[in-house]
Amino acid sequence: MPTGYVNQAAVELARNNSEIFKMAPIGSPSNVYPTDPPRFREIMERTFKYFQRTAALIETLLNDALGLPPGRLHQYNSNRQSDRMIAYRYFKANVETKKMIGSYPHKDPNLFTLLLQDDVGGLEFLRNDQWIPVSPIPHSLVVNVGDVLQVLSNNEFKSVAHRVVSPSEKDRYSCAFGCQIGENKWVEPFAELTSQIKAAPKFKGFYHGEFLQLLGASYKPTLEPNDTFTLMDVVVNNYTLPA
Ligand SMILES: [Fe+2]
Repeated sequence: MPTGYVNQAAVELARNNSEIFKMAPIGSPSNVYPTDPPRFREIMERTFKYFQRTAALIETLLNDALGLPPGRLHQYNSNRQSDRMIAYRYFKANVETKKMIGSYPHKDPNLFTLLLQDDVGGLEFLRNDQWIPVSPIPHSLVVNVGDVLQVLSNNEFKSVAHRVVSPSEKDRYSCAFGCQIGENKWVEPFAELTSQIKAAPKFKGFYHGEFLQLLGASYKPTLEPNDTFTLMDVVVNNYTLPA
């Protein structure tokens, strides 16, 4: 995915009501920074480093919580060139233009996402067909499990559908760090959680790049959670193993 600045609200009528700045790991040639404000690059790179360190810690905690051998998740995902950080500004709702959704319902197609949000609110996750607000807690990060971790963990961790409703009073600012894997990575439940303990794998294996393509092709910005594309749709029901 391209990096840099995008005003998503201006791209087309039904897109997310936000503007973003996305960056790849420090040193990546695809990163292009504005020169104004002058300290923009320095602060973004420093923030990226903090997220990287926190992600490494979370990765270890998830690894241990699954009862995997030490370093198994890290070993699986040791190339971190696909990690991405996105700074968001969600515009406040505009009734006239009907721009009311900061981010349409979706699941993150990655290992996990770390999210720093301000005190404005608007993030919601789906549980039992109900949208539950993720109330901001000062000095806290939200950890959101993604599709890849759901598969690797053989459904022990669940990828969560979420959305951002445009705030009514003022713009919302947040910053997300996506712990991603490369498109050429093979994704399937870890053997330590299946064959070695005789538990049936709940997912077929797939290349991450193909999964992303299917996801992108079927994505529609819609308010109905049931219309949201899910991992189950692809992997269990419709996915065909590559030849
Ligand atoms: Fe997300």
